[in-house]
Amino acid sequence: MAGRIPPTFVDDLLSRVDLVDLIDSRVPLKKSGREYTACCPFHDEKSPSFTVSPSKQFYHCFGCGAHGTAIGFLMEFEHLGFVEAVEELAARVGLAVPRDESSARATREGPDLLTPLQRAAEFYRQQLRTNPAASRAVDYLKGRGMSGEIAAEFGVGYAPEGWSSLIDALSREVGYPALVASGLVIEKEGGGGYDRFRDRVMFPIRDRRGRVIAFGGRILGEGKPKYLNSPETPLFHKGSELYGLFEARQALRHIERLVVVEGYMDVLALAQYGIRYAVATLGTATTERHLESLFRICSEVVFCFDGDRAGREAAWKALQVVLPQLRDGRQVRILLLPEGEDPDTLVRAEGGGAFAERLATARPLAEFFFDWLTQEVDLTSMDGRARLAALAQPHIQQVPPGVLRDLMLDRLASLTGLDSRRLGRDLKVAAAPRRLARPRGAGPLSVMAKTIAMLIQRPGLASRAEALRDIPTSGLAGLGVLFELLDLLAARPNLTTGALIEHWRGTEHFETLQRLAGHPFEVAESHWDEDFDGYLSILSGKYREARYSQLEQKARIGGLTQDEKREFFELSRYR
Ligand code: GTP
Ligand code: MN
Repeated sequence: MAGRIPPTFVDDLLSRVDLVDLIDSRVPLKKSGREYTACCPFHDEKSPSFTVSPSKQFYHCFGCGAHGTAIGFLMEFEHLGFVEAVEELAARVGLAVPRDESSARATREGPDLLTPLQRAAEFYRQQLRTNPAASRAVDYLKGRGMSGEIAAEFGVGYAPEGWSSLIDALSREVGYPALVASGLVIEKEGGGGYDRFRDRVMFPIRDRRGRVIAFGGRILGEGKPKYLNSPETPLFHKGSELYGLFEARQALRHIERLVVVEGYMDVLALAQYGIRYAVATLGTATTERHLESLFRICSEVVFCFDGDRAGREAAWKALQVVLPQLRDGRQVRILLLPEGEDPDTLVRAEGGGAFAERLATARPLAEFFFDWLTQEVDLTSMDGRARLAALAQPHIQQVPPGVLRDLMLDRLASLTGLDSRRLGRDLKVAAAPRRLARPRGAGPLSVMAKTIAMLIQRPGLASRAEALRDIPTSGLAGLGVLFELLDLLAARPNLTTGALIEHWRGTEHFETLQRLAGHPFEVAESHWDEDFDGYLSILSGKYREARYSQLEQKARIGGLTQDEKREFFELSRYR
Protein backbone atom coordinates (compact mmCIF):
# COMPACT_ATOMS: atom_id res chain seq x y z
CA MET A 1 0.00 0.00 0.00
CA ALA A 2 1.08 3.52 -0.68
CA GLY A 3 2.03 5.84 2.17
CA ARG A 4 0.21 8.67 3.83
CA ILE A 5 -0.70 11.76 1.85
CA PRO A 6 1.42 14.60 3.26
CA PRO A 7 -0.65 17.35 4.93
CA THR A 8 1.24 20.05 3.05
CA PHE A 9 -0.04 18.54 -0.17
CA VAL A 10 -3.61 18.74 1.11
CA ASP A 11 -3.05 22.42 1.96
CA ASP A 12 -1.69 23.03 -1.49
CA LEU A 13 -4.50 21.13 -3.15
CA LEU A 14 -7.20 22.98 -1.24
CA SER A 15 -5.65 26.32 -2.13
CA ARG A 16 -6.13 25.49 -5.82
CA VAL A 17 -9.59 23.96 -5.74
CA ASP A 18 -12.61 26.21 -5.49
CA LEU A 19 -15.36 24.68 -3.40
CA VAL A 20 -17.99 26.81 -5.12
CA ASP A 21 -17.06 25.42 -8.56
CA LEU A 22 -16.80 21.92 -7.20
CA ILE A 23 -20.27 21.94 -5.67
CA ASP A 24 -21.84 24.00 -8.44
CA SER A 25 -20.95 21.33 -10.99
CA ARG A 26 -23.04 18.86 -9.01
CA VAL A 27 -25.60 20.99 -7.20
CA PRO A 28 -26.33 24.27 -9.01
CA LEU A 29 -25.68 27.19 -6.66
CA LYS A 30 -27.20 30.67 -6.53
CA LYS A 31 -25.28 33.69 -5.32
CA SER A 32 -26.74 35.29 -2.23
CA GLY A 33 -24.69 38.09 -0.70
CA ARG A 34 -21.20 36.85 -0.07
CA GLU A 35 -22.23 33.21 -0.07
CA TYR A 36 -23.88 30.74 -2.41
CA THR A 37 -26.97 28.72 -1.65
CA ALA A 38 -28.96 25.74 -2.90
CA CYS A 39 -31.48 23.22 -1.67
CA CYS A 40 -29.45 20.84 0.45
CA PRO A 41 -28.30 17.71 -1.40
CA PHE A 42 -28.11 15.80 1.88
CA HIS A 43 -31.73 16.13 2.94
CA ASP A 44 -35.06 16.89 1.34
CA GLU A 45 -36.14 20.49 1.41
CA LYS A 46 -38.18 23.02 -0.52
CA SER A 47 -36.34 26.23 0.35
CA PRO A 48 -32.56 26.48 0.33
CA SER A 49 -30.69 26.26 3.62
CA PHE A 50 -27.45 24.85 2.17
CA THR A 51 -24.80 27.58 2.01
CA VAL A 52 -21.30 27.57 0.57
CA SER A 53 -18.78 30.17 1.64
CA PRO A 54 -16.13 31.00 -0.99
CA SER A 55 -13.89 32.75 1.53
CA LYS A 56 -14.03 29.97 4.10
CA GLN A 57 -14.06 27.17 1.52
CA PHE A 58 -16.58 25.46 3.74
CA TYR A 59 -20.24 24.45 3.33
CA HIS A 60 -22.94 24.25 5.92
CA CYS A 61 -26.62 23.35 5.94
CA PHE A 62 -28.81 25.11 8.49
CA GLY A 63 -31.51 22.53 7.92
CA CYS A 64 -29.82 19.22 8.59
CA GLY A 65 -26.47 20.34 9.96
CA ALA A 66 -24.42 18.79 7.14
CA HIS A 67 -21.09 20.57 6.78
CA GLY A 68 -17.58 20.14 5.52
CA THR A 69 -14.68 20.99 3.27
CA ALA A 70 -14.13 20.21 -0.42
CA ILE A 71 -12.77 16.82 0.56
CA GLY A 72 -15.65 16.20 2.94
CA PHE A 73 -18.15 17.16 0.24
CA LEU A 74 -16.84 14.59 -2.21
CA MET A 75 -16.72 11.95 0.49
CA GLU A 76 -20.37 12.53 1.36
CA PHE A 77 -21.83 13.33 -2.02
CA GLU A 78 -19.94 10.81 -4.13
CA HIS A 79 -19.55 8.27 -1.34
CA LEU A 80 -15.76 8.32 -1.70
CA GLY A 81 -13.06 7.47 0.79
CA PHE A 82 -10.61 10.18 1.87
CA VAL A 83 -7.85 9.08 -0.49
CA GLU A 84 -10.22 8.83 -3.43
CA ALA A 85 -11.64 12.27 -2.71
CA VAL A 86 -8.12 13.72 -2.63
CA GLU A 87 -7.30 11.94 -5.87
CA GLU A 88 -10.40 13.26 -7.56
CA LEU A 89 -9.63 16.83 -6.50
CA ALA A 90 -6.02 16.46 -7.57
CA ALA A 91 -7.13 15.22 -10.98
CA ARG A 92 -9.39 18.28 -11.31
CA VAL A 93 -6.47 20.65 -10.93
CA GLY A 94 -3.89 18.45 -12.63
CA LEU A 95 -1.75 17.52 -9.62
CA ALA A 96 -0.30 14.09 -8.89
CA VAL A 97 -0.83 12.86 -5.35
CA PRO A 98 2.53 12.30 -3.61
CA ARG A 99 2.88 9.62 -0.95
CA ASP A 100 4.90 10.04 2.16
CA GLU A 101 6.77 6.75 1.93
CA SER A 102 8.69 7.23 5.15
CA SER A 103 5.48 7.08 7.13
CA ALA A 104 4.00 4.20 5.16
CA ARG A 105 5.45 1.59 7.42
CA ALA A 106 4.65 3.55 10.55
CA THR A 107 0.90 3.76 9.85
CA ARG A 108 -0.98 0.77 11.09
CA GLU A 109 -2.83 -0.26 7.98
CA GLY A 110 -3.45 -3.86 8.96
CA PRO A 111 -3.49 -6.68 6.44
CA ASP A 112 -5.12 -6.12 3.06
CA LEU A 113 -8.51 -7.83 3.32
CA LEU A 114 -9.95 -6.61 0.04
CA THR A 115 -7.69 -8.61 -2.25
CA PRO A 116 -8.47 -12.02 -0.76
CA LEU A 117 -12.19 -11.24 -0.80
CA GLN A 118 -12.08 -10.05 -4.38
CA ARG A 119 -10.07 -13.07 -5.47
CA ALA A 120 -12.41 -15.40 -3.58
CA ALA A 121 -15.42 -13.88 -5.36
CA GLU A 122 -13.73 -14.55 -8.69
CA PHE A 123 -12.88 -18.08 -7.62
CA TYR A 124 -16.44 -18.89 -6.54
CA ARG A 125 -17.88 -17.42 -9.74
CA GLN A 126 -15.50 -19.37 -11.88
CA GLN A 127 -16.33 -22.56 -9.97
CA LEU A 128 -20.03 -22.07 -10.68
CA ARG A 129 -19.32 -21.71 -14.39
CA THR A 130 -16.67 -24.33 -14.96
CA ASN A 131 -16.48 -26.91 -12.20
CA PRO A 132 -18.50 -30.01 -13.21
CA ALA A 133 -19.13 -30.56 -9.50
CA ALA A 134 -21.07 -27.29 -9.48
CA SER A 135 -23.86 -28.67 -11.65
CA ARG A 136 -25.97 -29.30 -8.54
CA ALA A 137 -25.67 -25.63 -7.67
CA VAL A 138 -26.59 -24.60 -11.20
CA ASP A 139 -29.59 -26.89 -11.11
CA TYR A 140 -30.60 -25.55 -7.72
CA LEU A 141 -30.52 -21.94 -8.94
CA LYS A 142 -32.33 -22.80 -12.17
CA GLY A 143 -34.86 -24.72 -10.14
CA ARG A 144 -35.53 -21.55 -8.18
CA GLY A 145 -35.97 -19.62 -11.41
CA MET A 146 -32.85 -17.47 -11.26
CA SER A 147 -31.72 -16.17 -14.64
CA GLY A 148 -28.12 -16.31 -15.75
CA GLU A 149 -28.02 -12.54 -16.26
CA ILE A 150 -29.07 -11.81 -12.70
CA ALA A 151 -26.64 -14.39 -11.32
CA ALA A 152 -23.84 -12.73 -13.27
CA GLU A 153 -24.83 -9.23 -12.31
CA PHE A 154 -24.83 -10.05 -8.60
CA GLY A 155 -21.68 -12.13 -8.93
CA VAL A 156 -23.31 -15.32 -7.65
CA GLY A 157 -20.84 -18.19 -7.28
CA TYR A 158 -20.31 -21.62 -5.81
CA ALA A 159 -18.02 -22.74 -2.99
CA PRO A 160 -17.00 -26.33 -3.73
CA GLU A 161 -17.23 -29.24 -1.34
CA GLY A 162 -14.12 -30.21 0.57
CA TRP A 163 -12.31 -28.50 3.43
CA SER A 164 -9.62 -26.65 1.55
CA SER A 165 -10.73 -25.77 -2.00
CA LEU A 166 -10.30 -22.07 -1.37
CA ILE A 167 -7.14 -22.49 0.68
CA ASP A 168 -5.61 -24.56 -2.10
CA ALA A 169 -6.63 -22.06 -4.76
CA LEU A 170 -5.61 -18.83 -3.05
CA SER A 171 -3.24 -19.21 -0.12
CA ARG A 172 -0.13 -19.12 -2.29
CA GLU A 173 -1.27 -15.93 -3.97
CA VAL A 174 -2.78 -13.88 -1.14
CA GLY A 175 -1.26 -15.64 1.87
CA TYR A 176 -2.94 -17.89 4.39
CA PRO A 177 -3.14 -15.26 7.18
CA ALA A 178 -5.07 -12.92 4.86
CA LEU A 179 -7.62 -15.67 4.20
CA VAL A 180 -8.13 -16.07 7.93
CA ALA A 181 -8.28 -12.33 8.59
CA SER A 182 -10.90 -11.82 5.89
CA GLY A 183 -13.13 -14.48 7.41
CA LEU A 184 -12.87 -16.93 4.53
CA VAL A 185 -10.94 -19.54 6.46
CA ILE A 186 -11.64 -20.73 9.99
CA GLU A 187 -8.57 -21.51 12.04
CA LYS A 188 -8.64 -24.57 14.25
CA GLU A 189 -7.48 -24.36 17.81
CA GLY A 190 -4.35 -26.45 17.49
CA GLY A 191 -3.37 -24.79 14.19
CA GLY A 192 -4.41 -25.50 10.64
CA GLY A 193 -7.68 -24.31 9.16
CA TYR A 194 -10.51 -25.01 6.78
CA ASP A 195 -12.74 -23.18 4.30
CA ARG A 196 -15.67 -21.46 6.01
CA PHE A 197 -17.92 -21.86 2.99
CA ARG A 198 -18.31 -25.37 1.55
CA ASP A 199 -20.82 -26.66 -0.96
CA ARG A 200 -22.81 -23.45 -0.90
CA VAL A 201 -24.22 -20.94 -3.35
CA MET A 202 -22.23 -17.78 -2.72
CA PHE A 203 -23.54 -14.21 -2.69
CA PRO A 204 -20.79 -11.59 -2.55
CA ILE A 205 -21.72 -8.63 -0.36
CA ARG A 206 -20.41 -5.40 -1.84
CA ASP A 207 -19.93 -2.07 -0.17
CA ARG A 208 -21.25 1.14 -1.64
CA ARG A 209 -18.25 1.34 -3.93
CA GLY A 210 -18.69 -2.16 -5.27
CA ARG A 211 -15.83 -3.78 -3.37
CA VAL A 212 -16.51 -7.27 -2.04
CA ILE A 213 -16.39 -7.06 1.76
CA ALA A 214 -18.10 -10.31 2.82
CA PHE A 215 -20.17 -13.25 1.61
CA GLY A 216 -23.44 -14.97 2.31
CA GLY A 217 -23.61 -18.65 1.42
CA ARG A 218 -26.72 -20.78 1.01
CA ILE A 219 -26.90 -24.50 1.34
CA LEU A 220 -28.29 -26.32 -1.72
CA GLY A 221 -31.71 -27.41 -0.59
CA GLU A 222 -32.69 -28.17 3.00
CA GLY A 223 -30.30 -28.25 5.95
CA LYS A 224 -28.88 -26.18 8.74
CA PRO A 225 -27.63 -23.58 8.91
CA LYS A 226 -29.47 -22.50 5.77
CA TYR A 227 -27.37 -19.38 5.38
CA LEU A 228 -23.88 -18.72 6.56
CA ASN A 229 -22.49 -15.18 6.59
CA SER A 230 -18.95 -13.90 6.87
CA PRO A 231 -18.00 -12.93 10.41
CA GLU A 232 -17.60 -9.29 11.38
CA THR A 233 -14.23 -7.99 10.20
CA PRO A 234 -12.72 -4.50 10.05
CA LEU A 235 -14.39 -4.25 6.62
CA PHE A 236 -17.73 -5.82 7.36
CA HIS A 237 -20.30 -4.72 9.91
CA LYS A 238 -23.63 -6.43 9.44
CA GLY A 239 -25.55 -3.63 11.08
CA SER A 240 -24.30 -1.08 8.53
CA GLU A 241 -24.45 -2.90 5.23
CA LEU A 242 -27.37 -3.39 2.92
CA TYR A 243 -27.16 -6.20 0.41
CA GLY A 244 -27.94 -5.02 -3.11
CA LEU A 245 -27.45 -1.29 -2.55
CA PHE A 246 -24.45 -1.10 -4.84
CA GLU A 247 -26.25 -3.07 -7.55
CA ALA A 248 -29.33 -0.84 -7.26
CA ARG A 249 -27.20 2.26 -7.70
CA GLN A 250 -25.51 0.71 -10.70
CA ALA A 251 -28.81 -0.20 -12.33
CA LEU A 252 -30.66 3.05 -11.74
CA ARG A 253 -29.56 6.56 -12.47
CA HIS A 254 -32.03 8.03 -10.09
CA ILE A 255 -33.48 6.10 -7.16
CA GLU A 256 -36.85 7.38 -5.99
CA ARG A 257 -37.70 4.61 -3.60
CA LEU A 258 -35.85 1.79 -1.88
CA VAL A 259 -37.45 -1.41 -0.66
CA VAL A 260 -35.99 -3.27 2.29
CA VAL A 261 -36.53 -7.03 2.22
CA GLU A 262 -35.17 -9.85 4.35
CA GLY A 263 -33.30 -12.20 2.05
CA TYR A 264 -30.63 -12.36 -0.63
CA MET A 265 -32.94 -14.36 -2.86
CA ASP A 266 -35.63 -11.72 -2.48
CA VAL A 267 -33.30 -9.01 -3.77
CA LEU A 268 -32.30 -11.13 -6.77
CA ALA A 269 -35.85 -12.20 -7.65
CA LEU A 270 -37.15 -8.64 -7.47
CA ALA A 271 -34.27 -7.42 -9.65
CA GLN A 272 -35.01 -10.15 -12.17
CA TYR A 273 -38.61 -8.92 -12.36
CA GLY A 274 -37.61 -5.32 -12.94
CA ILE A 275 -37.71 -4.03 -9.36
CA ARG A 276 -34.13 -2.85 -9.22
CA TYR A 277 -34.40 -0.90 -6.01
CA ALA A 278 -34.58 -3.68 -3.40
CA VAL A 279 -31.97 -4.17 -0.67
CA ALA A 280 -31.73 -6.66 2.19
CA THR A 281 -30.53 -6.42 5.75
CA LEU A 282 -28.13 -9.23 6.49
CA GLY A 283 -30.08 -11.34 8.92
CA THR A 284 -30.20 -8.46 11.42
CA ALA A 285 -32.95 -6.09 12.46
CA THR A 286 -33.01 -2.67 10.82
CA THR A 287 -30.55 -0.29 12.44
CA GLU A 288 -30.20 3.46 12.59
CA ARG A 289 -27.17 3.17 10.32
CA HIS A 290 -29.23 1.31 7.73
CA LEU A 291 -31.74 4.14 7.73
CA GLU A 292 -29.05 6.74 7.35
CA SER A 293 -27.74 4.97 4.24
CA LEU A 294 -31.23 4.61 2.83
CA PHE A 295 -32.34 8.20 3.37
CA ARG A 296 -29.09 9.49 2.01
CA ILE A 297 -30.11 8.05 -1.33
CA CYS A 298 -33.84 8.67 -1.49
CA SER A 299 -36.68 9.95 0.65
CA GLU A 300 -39.07 7.02 0.36
CA VAL A 301 -38.45 3.63 1.95
CA VAL A 302 -40.78 0.63 1.93
CA PHE A 303 -40.19 -2.14 4.44
CA CYS A 304 -41.35 -5.51 3.32
CA PHE A 305 -42.11 -8.22 5.85
CA ASP A 306 -43.77 -11.59 5.92
CA GLY A 307 -47.40 -11.41 6.96
CA ASP A 308 -46.97 -13.89 9.80
CA ARG A 309 -46.63 -13.02 13.45
CA ALA A 310 -42.82 -12.85 13.34
CA GLY A 311 -43.01 -10.57 10.29
CA ARG A 312 -45.49 -8.20 11.94
CA GLU A 313 -43.33 -8.03 15.02
CA ALA A 314 -40.26 -7.31 12.94
CA ALA A 315 -42.22 -4.48 11.30
CA TRP A 316 -43.11 -3.01 14.69
CA LYS A 317 -39.48 -3.24 15.73
CA ALA A 318 -38.35 -1.47 12.57
CA LEU A 319 -40.91 1.23 13.22
CA GLN A 320 -39.26 2.09 16.53
CA VAL A 321 -35.99 2.71 14.76
CA VAL A 322 -37.64 4.72 12.00
CA LEU A 323 -39.69 7.16 14.11
CA PRO A 324 -36.79 9.39 15.26
CA GLN A 325 -35.64 9.70 11.64
CA LEU A 326 -38.97 10.80 10.21
CA ARG A 327 -38.11 14.34 9.34
CA ASP A 328 -40.52 16.12 7.04
CA GLY A 329 -40.17 14.99 3.47
CA ARG A 330 -39.27 11.45 4.36
CA GLN A 331 -41.82 8.77 3.76
CA VAL A 332 -41.91 5.22 5.07
CA ARG A 333 -44.38 2.50 4.20
CA ILE A 334 -44.84 -1.01 5.50
CA LEU A 335 -45.79 -3.86 3.21
CA LEU A 336 -46.94 -7.05 4.92
CA LEU A 337 -47.07 -9.93 2.48
CA PRO A 338 -49.73 -12.64 2.45
CA GLU A 339 -48.89 -15.44 4.88
CA GLY A 340 -46.52 -18.03 3.54
CA GLU A 341 -45.13 -15.75 0.83
CA ASP A 342 -41.90 -13.81 0.61
CA PRO A 343 -40.95 -11.31 -2.10
CA ASP A 344 -39.15 -14.04 -4.02
CA THR A 345 -42.13 -16.39 -4.25
CA LEU A 346 -44.66 -13.62 -4.70
CA VAL A 347 -42.95 -11.73 -7.50
CA ARG A 348 -42.42 -14.97 -9.39
CA ALA A 349 -46.09 -15.85 -8.93
CA GLU A 350 -47.68 -12.53 -9.82
CA GLY A 351 -45.03 -10.65 -11.81
CA GLY A 352 -43.13 -7.41 -11.33
CA GLY A 353 -45.99 -5.09 -12.21
CA ALA A 354 -48.31 -6.47 -9.56
CA PHE A 355 -45.56 -6.42 -6.96
CA ALA A 356 -44.62 -2.84 -7.80
CA GLU A 357 -48.27 -1.94 -7.35
CA ARG A 358 -48.23 -3.46 -3.87
CA LEU A 359 -45.17 -1.35 -3.05
CA ALA A 360 -46.73 1.84 -4.33
CA THR A 361 -49.88 1.31 -2.29
CA ALA A 362 -48.27 -0.10 0.84
CA ARG A 363 -49.55 1.22 4.14
CA PRO A 364 -47.97 4.46 5.34
CA LEU A 365 -46.07 4.03 8.57
CA ALA A 366 -48.51 6.16 10.59
CA GLU A 367 -51.44 3.99 9.54
CA PHE A 368 -49.59 0.83 10.42
CA PHE A 369 -48.73 2.42 13.75
CA PHE A 370 -52.34 3.16 14.70
CA ASP A 371 -53.63 -0.17 13.41
CA TRP A 372 -51.09 -1.94 15.55
CA LEU A 373 -51.94 -0.03 18.71
CA THR A 374 -55.70 0.00 18.30
CA GLN A 375 -55.86 -3.75 18.03
CA GLU A 376 -54.65 -3.88 21.61
CA VAL A 377 -57.28 -1.56 23.08
CA ASP A 378 -61.04 -1.27 23.18
CA LEU A 379 -61.86 2.08 21.60
CA THR A 380 -65.50 1.95 22.65
CA SER A 381 -64.57 2.39 26.31
CA MET A 382 -63.15 5.50 27.86
CA ASP A 383 -60.45 3.45 29.57
CA GLY A 384 -59.43 1.98 26.24
CA ARG A 385 -59.16 5.41 24.64
CA ALA A 386 -57.07 6.72 27.53
CA ARG A 387 -54.85 3.68 27.25
CA LEU A 388 -54.35 4.31 23.54
CA ALA A 389 -53.23 7.86 24.28
CA ALA A 390 -50.80 6.55 26.88
CA LEU A 391 -49.44 3.90 24.54
CA ALA A 392 -49.08 6.17 21.53
CA GLN A 393 -47.58 9.26 23.09
CA PRO A 394 -44.11 7.96 23.93
CA HIS A 395 -43.75 6.81 20.32
CA ILE A 396 -45.05 10.01 18.72
CA GLN A 397 -42.66 11.87 20.93
CA GLN A 398 -39.81 10.21 19.04
CA VAL A 399 -40.87 11.82 15.76
CA PRO A 400 -39.05 15.10 15.06
CA PRO A 401 -41.37 18.11 15.26
CA GLY A 402 -43.02 18.72 11.91
CA VAL A 403 -46.00 18.01 9.74
CA LEU A 404 -45.96 14.26 10.23
CA ARG A 405 -45.86 14.54 13.99
CA ASP A 406 -48.79 16.98 13.91
CA LEU A 407 -50.75 14.61 11.69
CA MET A 408 -50.11 11.75 14.06
CA LEU A 409 -51.30 13.87 16.96
CA ASP A 410 -54.45 14.81 15.04
CA ARG A 411 -55.13 11.19 14.33
CA LEU A 412 -54.58 10.26 17.96
CA ALA A 413 -56.97 13.05 18.96
CA SER A 414 -59.69 11.82 16.65
CA LEU A 415 -59.31 8.23 17.83
CA THR A 416 -59.36 9.09 21.52
CA GLY A 417 -61.63 12.13 21.51
CA LEU A 418 -58.90 14.06 23.34
CA ASP A 419 -57.83 17.52 22.28
CA SER A 420 -54.84 17.35 19.92
CA ARG A 421 -53.39 20.57 21.21
CA ARG A 422 -53.41 19.19 24.72
CA LEU A 423 -51.81 15.99 23.53
CA GLY A 424 -49.18 18.09 21.78
CA ARG A 425 -48.52 20.14 24.88
CA ASP A 426 -47.98 17.02 26.98
CA LEU A 427 -45.56 15.90 24.36
CA LYS A 428 -43.56 19.11 24.29
CA VAL A 429 -43.11 19.14 28.03
CA ALA A 430 -41.97 15.57 27.97
CA ALA A 431 -39.68 16.16 25.01
CA ALA A 432 -37.85 19.18 26.40
CA PRO A 433 -35.09 17.47 28.43
CA ARG A 434 -34.23 15.24 25.50
CA ARG A 435 -33.57 18.23 23.30
CA LEU A 436 -31.44 19.90 25.96
CA ALA A 437 -29.34 16.80 26.27
CA ARG A 438 -28.58 16.76 22.58
CA PRO A 439 -28.04 20.30 21.32
CA ARG A 440 -28.41 20.41 17.56
CA GLY A 441 -26.24 22.82 15.55
CA ALA A 442 -26.41 26.31 16.98
CA GLY A 443 -26.52 25.64 20.71
CA PRO A 444 -24.85 28.02 23.18
CA LEU A 445 -21.08 27.73 23.09
CA SER A 446 -18.53 28.18 25.82
CA VAL A 447 -16.20 31.16 25.54
CA MET A 448 -13.36 28.84 24.53
CA ALA A 449 -15.52 27.30 21.81
CA LYS A 450 -16.52 30.75 20.55
CA THR A 451 -12.90 31.86 20.45
CA ILE A 452 -11.91 28.79 18.46
CA ALA A 453 -14.96 29.13 16.21
CA MET A 454 -14.11 32.75 15.34
CA LEU A 455 -10.48 31.90 14.72
CA ILE A 456 -11.37 29.04 12.38
CA GLN A 457 -13.88 31.16 10.53
CA ARG A 458 -11.50 34.07 10.21
CA PRO A 459 -7.92 32.78 10.44
CA GLY A 460 -6.59 36.36 10.13
CA LEU A 461 -7.50 36.87 13.79
CA ALA A 462 -4.57 34.66 14.82
CA SER A 463 -2.17 37.57 15.34
CA ARG A 464 -4.43 39.06 18.02
CA ALA A 465 -4.15 35.95 20.20
CA GLU A 466 -0.42 36.10 20.97
CA ALA A 467 -1.01 37.49 24.48
CA LEU A 468 -2.69 34.23 25.42
CA ARG A 469 0.58 32.41 24.94
CA ASP A 470 1.64 33.19 28.52
CA ILE A 471 -0.92 30.71 29.80
CA PRO A 472 0.33 27.13 30.15
CA THR A 473 -1.45 24.71 27.81
CA SER A 474 -2.91 22.80 30.73
CA GLY A 475 -4.36 25.98 32.19
CA LEU A 476 -7.75 25.82 30.44
CA ALA A 477 -9.75 23.14 28.70
CA GLY A 478 -9.46 23.50 24.93
CA LEU A 479 -6.32 25.60 25.08
CA GLY A 480 -4.26 22.81 23.52
CA VAL A 481 -6.32 22.87 20.34
CA LEU A 482 -6.36 26.66 20.25
CA PHE A 483 -2.56 26.74 20.46
CA GLU A 484 -2.19 24.13 17.75
CA LEU A 485 -4.40 26.26 15.52
CA LEU A 486 -2.28 29.32 16.27
CA ASP A 487 0.96 27.42 15.56
CA LEU A 488 -0.38 26.19 12.26
CA LEU A 489 -1.55 29.65 11.27
CA ALA A 490 1.79 31.17 12.26
CA ALA A 491 3.48 28.81 9.78
CA ARG A 492 0.78 29.10 7.08
CA PRO A 493 -1.20 32.28 7.54
CA ASN A 494 -3.12 31.91 4.30
CA LEU A 495 -5.04 28.75 5.05
CA THR A 496 -8.79 28.96 4.56
CA THR A 497 -11.23 27.60 7.10
CA GLY A 498 -11.61 24.41 5.10
CA ALA A 499 -7.88 23.82 4.65
CA LEU A 500 -7.28 24.60 8.31
CA ILE A 501 -9.63 22.00 9.70
CA GLU A 502 -8.51 19.35 7.24
CA HIS A 503 -5.42 19.11 9.46
CA TRP A 504 -7.59 17.57 12.17
CA ARG A 505 -9.26 14.92 10.01
CA GLY A 506 -9.08 11.56 11.72
CA THR A 507 -8.58 13.08 15.18
CA GLU A 508 -11.08 13.30 18.02
CA HIS A 509 -11.44 17.06 17.48
CA PHE A 510 -12.35 16.98 13.78
CA GLU A 511 -16.14 16.89 14.19
CA THR A 512 -16.12 19.61 16.83
CA LEU A 513 -13.99 21.86 14.65
CA GLN A 514 -16.30 21.30 11.68
CA ARG A 515 -19.29 22.19 13.81
CA LEU A 516 -17.55 25.34 15.04
CA ALA A 517 -16.69 26.28 11.45
CA GLY A 518 -20.40 26.37 10.74
CA HIS A 519 -21.44 28.14 13.93
CA PRO A 520 -23.52 31.19 13.06
CA PHE A 521 -22.28 34.32 14.81
CA GLU A 522 -24.92 36.99 15.14
CA VAL A 523 -22.55 39.97 15.20
CA ALA A 524 -21.59 41.85 12.04
CA GLU A 525 -18.16 40.91 10.71
CA SER A 526 -16.90 44.44 11.36
CA HIS A 527 -17.20 43.75 15.08
CA TRP A 528 -15.37 40.46 15.08
CA ASP A 529 -11.98 41.89 16.05
CA GLU A 530 -13.53 43.53 19.07
CA ASP A 531 -15.50 40.43 20.08
CA PHE A 532 -12.50 38.21 19.61
CA ASP A 533 -10.40 40.45 21.87
CA GLY A 534 -13.24 40.32 24.38
CA TYR A 535 -13.24 36.53 24.40
CA LEU A 536 -9.47 36.48 24.82
CA SER A 537 -9.63 38.70 27.86
CA ILE A 538 -12.41 36.57 29.37
CA LEU A 539 -10.21 33.51 28.85
CA SER A 540 -7.22 35.17 30.51
CA GLY A 541 -9.46 36.22 33.39
CA LYS A 542 -10.74 32.67 33.79
CA TYR A 543 -7.23 31.34 33.87
CA ARG A 544 -6.10 33.90 36.44
CA GLU A 545 -9.08 33.08 38.66
CA ALA A 546 -8.41 29.37 38.49
CA ARG A 547 -4.71 29.79 39.07
CA TYR A 548 -5.28 32.18 41.96
CA SER A 549 -7.49 29.71 43.85
CA GLN A 550 -5.03 26.93 43.10
CA LEU A 551 -2.15 28.87 44.61
CA GLU A 552 -4.29 30.06 47.48
CA GLN A 553 -5.08 26.47 48.38
CA LYS A 554 -1.48 25.42 48.06
CA ALA A 555 -0.39 28.28 50.30
CA ARG A 556 -2.77 26.99 52.95
CA ILE A 557 -1.55 23.42 52.95
CA GLY A 558 2.07 23.37 51.96
CA GLY A 559 3.39 26.80 51.27
CA LEU A 560 4.55 28.32 48.00
CA THR A 561 7.91 28.40 46.29
CA GLN A 562 9.55 31.75 45.75
CA ASP A 563 8.32 31.90 42.12
CA GLU A 564 4.82 30.94 43.12
CA LYS A 565 4.72 33.67 45.74
CA ARG A 566 5.66 36.22 43.13
CA GLU A 567 3.00 34.83 40.79
CA PHE A 568 0.40 34.84 43.53
CA PHE A 569 1.17 38.47 44.30
CA GLU A 570 0.91 39.42 40.62
CA LEU A 571 -2.41 37.64 40.32
CA SER A 572 -3.84 39.27 43.41
CA ARG A 573 -3.27 42.68 41.85
CA TYR A 574 -5.84 41.86 39.16
CA ARG A 575 -8.54 41.08 41.64
P1 GTP B 1 -34.52 -18.86 0.83
O1 GTP B 1 -35.55 -18.25 0.00
O2 GTP B 1 -34.96 -20.07 1.57
O3 GTP B 1 -33.21 -19.01 0.15
O4 GTP B 1 -34.20 -17.87 1.96
P2 GTP B 1 -34.81 -16.44 2.17
O5 GTP B 1 -34.03 -15.46 1.39
O6 GTP B 1 -36.29 -16.49 1.98
O7 GTP B 1 -34.41 -16.28 3.63
P3 GTP B 1 -35.22 -16.31 4.94
O8 GTP B 1 -36.46 -15.47 4.84
O9 GTP B 1 -35.32 -17.71 5.46
O10 GTP B 1 -34.15 -15.52 5.76
C1 GTP B 1 -33.88 -14.17 5.44
C2 GTP B 1 -32.43 -13.84 5.65
O11 GTP B 1 -32.08 -14.18 6.97
C3 GTP B 1 -31.48 -14.61 4.77
O12 GTP B 1 -31.30 -14.01 3.53
C4 GTP B 1 -30.23 -14.57 5.62
O13 GTP B 1 -29.56 -13.33 5.49
C5 GTP B 1 -30.78 -14.72 7.01
N1 GTP B 1 -30.81 -16.12 7.42
C6 GTP B 1 -31.75 -17.03 7.17
N2 GTP B 1 -31.44 -18.23 7.68
C7 GTP B 1 -30.25 -18.07 8.28
C8 GTP B 1 -29.37 -18.95 9.00
O14 GTP B 1 -29.63 -20.13 9.19
N3 GTP B 1 -28.23 -18.39 9.48
C9 GTP B 1 -27.92 -17.08 9.31
N4 GTP B 1 -26.77 -16.60 9.82
N5 GTP B 1 -28.70 -16.24 8.62
C10 GTP B 1 -29.86 -16.73 8.12
MN1 MN C 1 -37.23 -17.11 0.40
